Amino acid sequence: MYRTHNCGELRIEHVGEEITLSGWVQKIRNLGGMTFIDIRDRYGITQLAFDENANPEITAQAREIGREYVIQIKGNVIERSNKNRNLPTGDVEIACTNLNILSKSDIPPFTIEENTDGGDELRMKYRYLDLRRPQLQKQLALRHQIAQEVRKYLNKEDFYEIETPVLIKSTPEGARDFIVPSRMNPGHFYALPQSPQVFKQLLMVSGYDRYYQIVKCFRDEDLRADRQPEFTQIDCEMSFAEQEDILTTFEEMTKTIFKNVLNVDMETPFRRMPYCEAMDKYGNDKPDLRFGMEIHKLNDLVKGQDFAVFDNAQYIGGICAQDQAEYSRKELDKLTKWVQRPQIGAKGLVYVKYNEDGSFKSSVDKFYNETELQKWATEFNAKPGDLLLILAGDEKITLHGLSELRLEMGNRLNLRNKDIFVPLWVVDFPLLEWDEDSQRFYAMHHPFTAPKPEDTALIDSDPGKVRANAYDLVINGVEIGGGSVRIHEQTLQQKMFKTLGFTKEEAEDQFGFLMNAFKYGAPPHAGVAFGFDRLVSLIAKLDSIRDVIAFPKNNNGRDVMIDSPSNVSQAQLEELMLKKVEKPTK
Ligand code: AMO
Repeated sequence: MYRTHNCGELRIEHVGEEITLSGWVQKIRNLGGMTFIDIRDRYGITQLAFDENANPEITAQAREIGREYVIQIKGNVIERSNKNRNLPTGDVEIACTNLNILSKSDIPPFTIEENTDGGDELRMKYRYLDLRRPQLQKQLALRHQIAQEVRKYLNKEDFYEIETPVLIKSTPEGARDFIVPSRMNPGHFYALPQSPQVFKQLLMVSGYDRYYQIVKCFRDEDLRADRQPEFTQIDCEMSFAEQEDILTTFEEMTKTIFKNVLNVDMETPFRRMPYCEAMDKYGNDKPDLRFGMEIHKLNDLVKGQDFAVFDNAQYIGGICAQDQAEYSRKELDKLTKWVQRPQIGAKGLVYVKYNEDGSFKSSVDKFYNETELQKWATEFNAKPGDLLLILAGDEKITLHGLSELRLEMGNRLNLRNKDIFVPLWVVDFPLLEWDEDSQRFYAMHHPFTAPKPEDTALIDSDPGKVRANAYDLVINGVEIGGGSVRIHEQTLQQKMFKTLGFTKEEAEDQFGFLMNAFKYGAPPHAGVAFGFDRLVSLIAKLDSIRDVIAFPKNNNGRDVMIDSPSNVSQAQLEELMLKKVEKPTK
């Protein structure tokens, strides 16, 4: 038997027992005739004591071992004279009588402790060592717990967990596909699913009524802190369901998870906000509602005073930072530089300080007198001591800039507390998105998303105005999930394909199987998918989903531990009838 207990288990009541432990060597200290070793496993750390006088042979052996050796010891649990209040096992130690080295270890490339000295790349290369750190173990345990909560809830609600294939044909989620060559069908390729979208809809046609899956999805897109090329969704679909059924079922799931995992109470129903309101007030479709600082459009208020920047701008808008009128010239210059970075692209920043004495100081004093500035302050409901920050320019760019500026000010003013969770359903997304480059409409969600019945007539006359029965769950400014009511009538689906610029043949080629299935009785259905990694990292109060994924890829989409992607042999390529070509030089 390798062990009678784990390394986090022993307490004062075990004193006197003879036990066996196995685990990794965390730390070794030699103090005179005594050697102390901390032994670690997933459950905790226990102190081992080796006494030279009592057991000279094994004490000498203990002095030879190094960090991260895997050892097995036998001994008696004794009360510690020097108790460690920071360790659950800190009241006891083991007087060791037996030591068995199960596995040796090279000196690890970084210390395996809470605050490691290993840099990011090094820890990714030795991810299996990084994963030994208590912090990561806690995060993966949390991920496990949340997955169990999800299953518990959905099972109770009569959902079936059904697997769908990974080698499929391209799915229309808008990103690039990862493709896999087929040996048995030379010249043909599978695609890895961007989501199980079409399969879950087919399961509804097959009568499974309620489906879920915690499932890997693959998207070849540029990576960010909240994006991985392979990530996990909680993917769900329900038959005979309308938007309201999905929203209530899944806000209840979210509420249950937060209650059971964090003991955080979320009030239901969650707030709902139309997409256009989110864009107007927050400049993006995933507003962080932990704080206000809403965007106000100022076009009517500021134009016509000979200030060319405003007069020539398509859009002028601003935010009000409470109690920040003290911002120094230097700080405002820095903030101006910040909004002028290419990622934000603002031309400049106009400020108005509403001083404590009721006077105004602004960067546009030449063009606007105190009476004018007072009107602006009133628009923002500002009070003396507040600071107005204003951007002007192209509408899309300026709203994006204001959205980023709002979040930045939220950070600076500590308004984005990680212990507070504010959920929101963003609803009524536009069905279609116009793409200037290709001069055509794209589905904002995917081509199976149903328009709002009252907007259907607009598909022919004014497609850009049609709203969809589509929704996103946003928590603290993170898009946690998204879904829609699906089209289940063939004629409407065909019309949608046509609006998206698919010829009949293209639609048939890509989605023929789904259209065929819909000929045999498709129930009205709707669904949603949650980004599981994002949900876990939000609950873990972390900034990157990488920290809740056991083996993530780096920002270049590489797994530096296994060195992937990598070359394959010539024989493999030949078998697949593939030939590498040199990258063309410009
Ligand atoms: P959508 O494309 O909105 O919807 O994806 C659902 C959720 O998945 C998460 N997500 C990601 N997480 C990490 N890395 C990525 N690269 C990544 N991409 C998306 C987000 C997102 O909200 N089939 C539809 C759902 C449906 O209509 O039912 C879909 O996939 O949290």
